Amino acid sequence: MSNTVRPLIAGNWKMNGLSDESGAQLKALIEKTNSIGNANCDVLICPPATFLREMSSIAAGSVVSIGGQDCHSAEKGAHTGDLSANMIADTGATYCLVGHSERRTDHNETNGMVKAKAESALASNLIAVVCVGETLEEREQGKTLTVITDQVKNSLPKGATAKNTVVAYEPVWAIGTGKTPTPSDVAEVHAHIRKDLQGILSDADNMRLLYGGSVKGSNASELMALEHVNGALVGGASLKAADFWPIVETCI
Ligand code: PGA
Repeated sequence: MSNTVRPLIAGNWKMNGLSDESGAQLKALIEKTNSIGNANCDVLICPPATFLREMSSIAAGSVVSIGGQDCHSAEKGAHTGDLSANMIADTGATYCLVGHSERRTDHNETNGMVKAKAESALASNLIAVVCVGETLEEREQGKTLTVITDQVKNSLPKGATAKNTVVAYEPVWAIGTGKTPTPSDVAEVHAHIRKDLQGILSDADNMRLLYGGSVKGSNASELMALEHVNGALVGGASLKAADFWPIVETCI
């Protein structure tokens, strides 16, 4: 972890939870973060869209930020079931994930679509968390770094800066499987992403690069200690404050 980049520990609740229980978990998390004040680390929770507004009002005034899990690239229009970035921002959310591998797989999202979504997020003053990651097949074929470069170059929004954009590296085969790459594999990909970004952005060294895929309390400190790893994107272990908090603690 670089000293100059303020880390971000983000929880992605995916399609889990209902407002009561999830609100209780968020309150429990906020209670724990109150002990750290605004120290060293940003904390983000991305709940299902149905209770984004409720979670935003619970988190108001705390160090926990709230984000959407996806947004449409258009500002408005005939897109049944979709939500615009403006609508996400209107709930009080300040971040939005785009290009999560589950979106890329379940909804056939291409790099071009992810980029358009990220641009829409920026236009609504949301911080875009752009997710990239290789499949197992791509890793086994030795294509990891090429795939990642392609995703980074073609999914990053126009106008991306270290302030408005975060990149999350999530190997598809590590998500929800309990499998993680070795620390040296993670370090290799993160260094590669940093280098790619240096070719595109003037403030690449300050952009937060999160690792995601089966992060939990027991492996977080090893992963977070790696150079160019500036935080985590956590799925399963973010649902309960008691599981998520030890991950946050590795950064404070
Ligand atoms: P996981 O999910 O922590 O459950 O592997 C990570 C993610 O999809 O962001």
